[in-house]
Amino acid sequence: MRPQRLQCLELRANCPRTKLRPSRRTSVLSSELQTGSAPLTGKRTLKEPQIMKVVSLQLTLPAAILAIVLSGVGHAADTSTPSLSERDLQAKIQYCTYCHQPSGQGYLGSSPIPRLAGQQTVYFKNQLQAFIDRRRVNKFMFKVAHSLSPEMLTALATHFSDLNPKPLGGAPTELVATGKKIFEGGIPNSNVPPCSTCHGPEAKGNGAFPRLAGQLYPYILKVLGNWDKERGQDTANPDTSAIMKPIAHSLTESQIAAVAAYISYLE
Ligand code: HEC
Ligand code: HEC
Repeated sequence: MRPQRLQCLELRANCPRTKLRPSRRTSVLSSELQTGSAPLTGKRTLKEPQIMKVVSLQLTLPAAILAIVLSGVGHAADTSTPSLSERDLQAKIQYCTYCHQPSGQGYLGSSPIPRLAGQQTVYFKNQLQAFIDRRRVNKFMFKVAHSLSPEMLTALATHFSDLNPKPLGGAPTELVATGKKIFEGGIPNSNVPPCSTCHGPEAKGNGAFPRLAGQLYPYILKVLGNWDKERGQDTANPDTSAIMKPIAHSLTESQIAAVAAYISYLE
């Protein structure tokens, strides 16, 4: 099951007849998704460095959001039983890489599949939990995530965080210089802080703040342009996506394109 075929599924059009009939899709997805069943639970942990970072930003972040960062980051798996076999892990990794590619570098297609390589494990797990809770919406990733056990989730997060392929690139290079300015200096007129304050000077991220370096250009365009429709979808349970929301809103389309181009080439 390659990304092209998945995308034709998603669009329900132009599918090569021999490769992809709905019945095939259903059987592949359901059989591959039926491993693991334990819901994600775990002791909540307090991550000092992230707290310091957020506090040191001296932004006027609403107290509710700070409280989320203070309390809701990460799901410790240390307490879970070591029931994960190497064979199950390798099978699951292979499944993820059908879409995210073997090196975790992501896939540039009509619907981009994000890079996972080098991603922060806390962010990685937060997002999978958000897909499970439907706070973050994506039909593929809900199906993928809801069957993962806590120990599988931790093992996958570790596996992908250790990978370090070259960025795929492909963004308009003429935008990079402007993007670097925005990343490092923010946009003072629009109250946008430097992206580097949270995502790190090299965009490598930290804890709940994701790595952005090498992330796919079209994926970043989509994410920043659609924040409200895809993230923080459970208003009763606000999450870390609220930190990024005002920033995504304040960026114009051309500013998004510039900063996305810059980020996409960072190694
Ligand atoms: C059917 C294709 C497909 C498969 C299989 C798949 N993913 Fe994804 N994944 C996606 C797409 C598409 C997105 C982007 C969702 C969006 O745009 O919000 C994504 C997003 C993610 C994200 C969020 C990335 C970010 O930067 O926020 C994580 C983490 C993730 N996937 C992990 C996994 C893991 C772990 C597996 C295997 C257990 C897996 N995925 C299997 C298609 C897939
Ligand atoms: C105040 C801290 C903060 C600042 C400043 C900030 N971000 Fe973020 N950003 C976050 C957090 C936290 C997340 C994770 C949100 C979540 O958990 O859903 C995030 C997520 C993102 C994502 C989604 C990553 C993915 O893989 O899906 C992108 C893209 C992004 N930020 C871009 C930017 C850009 C570009 C800037 C500068 C213009 C910026 N951020 C500034 C905190 C920040």
